[in-house]
Amino acid sequence: MTDSLGGTAQAVAFYSGHPISAALVLARLRAARGNLDGVQPEELWAHDQDHFGGLAANDTMAALAGIGPGSRVADFCAGLAGPARYYAHVFGADVTGVELTLARVTGAAELSRLVGLQDRVRVLAGDVTQAPLPDGQFDAVVSQEALLHVPDKGAALAEAFRVLRPGGRVVFSDWACHTPLVPEDAALMWQGMAAQTLQSLPGYHKLLEQAGFTAIGIEDMTDAWGPILRERLRMYQAMRAEAAAAGTPPGNDAFHRSYVRFVELILARQLGGIRAVASKPDGR
Ligand SMILES: C[S@@+](CC[C@H](N)C(=O)[O-])C[C@H]1O[C@@H](n2cnc3c(N)ncnc32)[C@H](O)[C@@H]1O
Repeated sequence: MTDSLGGTAQAVAFYSGHPISAALVLARLRAARGNLDGVQPEELWAHDQDHFGGLAANDTMAALAGIGPGSRVADFCAGLAGPARYYAHVFGADVTGVELTLARVTGAAELSRLVGLQDRVRVLAGDVTQAPLPDGQFDAVVSQEALLHVPDKGAALAEAFRVLRPGGRVVFSDWACHTPLVPEDAALMWQGMAAQTLQSLPGYHKLLEQAGFTAIGIEDMTDAWGPILRERLRMYQAMRAEAAAAGTPPGNDAFHRSYVRFVELILARQLGGIRAVASKPDGR
């Protein structure tokens, strides 16, 4: 899993056919309530969070990042903006996402409009290694389970540093690689889930330092992720048939095969998860 294998096209292809889609969210809402009139933000929460640990993970991110009323938050790799809408609706933040996959950008806009949050949540098309955001304007940068797709994680963290105000915080969760993968597993994680240049916990510490961050704390989430991922595997296996029946993307064979192996690797603690928090020093 080297940079030469990498790039961003694999992530775009993966997320363009991912089973969690705006179309599936809308199909579920129509089936549950008959129409899409007056949908409330809370009604999306069971469907639009594409990370491990759901709303509780958002609450932890918000607490670590110091998100509150009026906070200006950048969400790197915002997906369908599930977390972004949550920070806006529950904590009163103003959230700007950056997202690579156009189907996600348009899906995020559609869902935010549907629940009336379009004035406080926007998702810009872009790559987080060249974020289309101004310098020093954000109180917090957050990101959940996405940097695994980004070949140059140092460049993404440098962008987080650039867009934060002095004293602002970055908080992110991501896969970690505790023990290097054999080539077959690395290839499967790439083909099925566009995972590349995975970092160890000390590797992430070093990248954060190199980007200029201080007060770095990195939590090993691997044991907490085990049961969450077993459950998520069952969810995706059920969702495959559901999405096919709804005529929305069901995910391809490589994705479904790689997820089974991914969960095995997490349970064996070869792969794992981390949650990192760090600060941009005052006066920078
Ligand atoms: C697992 S999803 C997480 C979405 C969201 N953070 C959430 O928790 O619901 C990862 C997202 O990262 C996006 N992504 C991958 N590489 C990216 C890049 N270089 N720049 C911006 N977004 C990227 C993908 O398109 C995908 O929507």
